[in-house]
Amino acid sequence: MNIPHPIPYQGSKRSLADTILRYFPDKVETLLEPFAGSAAISLSAAAHQRAKRFHINDLNKPLVDLWRAIVNTPDKLAEEYEGLWHEQLGDPKIFYRKIRDEFNLTGRPDCFLYLLARCVKASVRYNANGEFNQSPDNRRRGAAPATMRSQLLGASCLLKGKTSFSSKNYRDVVSHAAKADLVYMDPPYQGVCGDRDSRYLASVQFCEFVEVLEQLNERHIRYIVSYDGRTGRKIHGVRLPDHLNLIHMELNAGRSTQATLLGRKDATFEALYLSPALADELGEMKTIRRFTRGEQMCLLETRA
Ligand SMILES: C[S@@+](CC[C@H](N)C(=O)[O-])C[C@H]1O[C@@H](n2cnc3c(N)ncnc32)[C@H](O)[C@@H]1O
Repeated sequence: MNIPHPIPYQGSKRSLADTILRYFPDKVETLLEPFAGSAAISLSAAAHQRAKRFHINDLNKPLVDLWRAIVNTPDKLAEEYEGLWHEQLGDPKIFYRKIRDEFNLTGRPDCFLYLLARCVKASVRYNANGEFNQSPDNRRRGAAPATMRSQLLGASCLLKGKTSFSSKNYRDVVSHAAKADLVYMDPPYQGVCGDRDSRYLASVQFCEFVEVLEQLNERHIRYIVSYDGRTGRKIHGVRLPDHLNLIHMELNAGRSTQATLLGRKDATFEALYLSPALADELGEMKTIRRFTRGEQMCLLETRA
């Protein structure tokens, strides 16, 4: 199935979405994505009808405003994008800077969409004042207007009428989760407490994140977390602690760019954790039942 993906976003879970969806329970009232980014999992879940409703949250407010525009007024956004795309052709470099300044002043969704389509590696970067400062990729002009229009309309068709939006800290979103819901969390990568990740407006402290997961466990909320990972033997980030009683899996995300450059074959594995409430439910129908939690049994998944 060709799933629309209107927001180009570094770190998108688009290529792993099918695999992650296999760990969804049968019935999901609302799928909450507190770290939505390009909302790859919500889009995929909507396309496969794996949840009745969706909640898209990201601390980055302009990103959530862009999501609102995509879902509620895709035609208008497609027209605005088309206007910007054609206007850039005179001098794309200067035009990009002009739109970046405009975006930093106004937060306009059409400007953000244009910047995401044109910036280096679709990677959002901010300076210390919270201003978007990523450079343009001068080899590309961004998705052609017709392509962008079909992505925008496709995403709207999947999510309109069943999606709510917010731009809060993830803690305030997961505190509203109910037992019939599913929370999918993909926090920004953070090795240890402290460092600020300039890719995003805010970072997530490991210790606080663990506390939030403890609270979700106490409330028997079903959740899935994408967290650390490894390339070959090199582990990225800190593994979530044993006392959370999570099922830990590794998903094969393919050959890493770095390894390819070095002529090696190291694959990247992304960690996926299932909460105890979810694992109990899936255990009824899947082989996960055979593994003992707490031993941090490692299940290896290969991409289908
Ligand atoms: C790794 S990205 C998520 C990518 C997403 N899974 C996708 O498919 O595109 C992490 C997201 O978390 C957001 N974020 C960072 N700190 C946050 C916080 N404290 N609360 C909510 N969102 C946050 C960032 O703006 C970023 O979009």
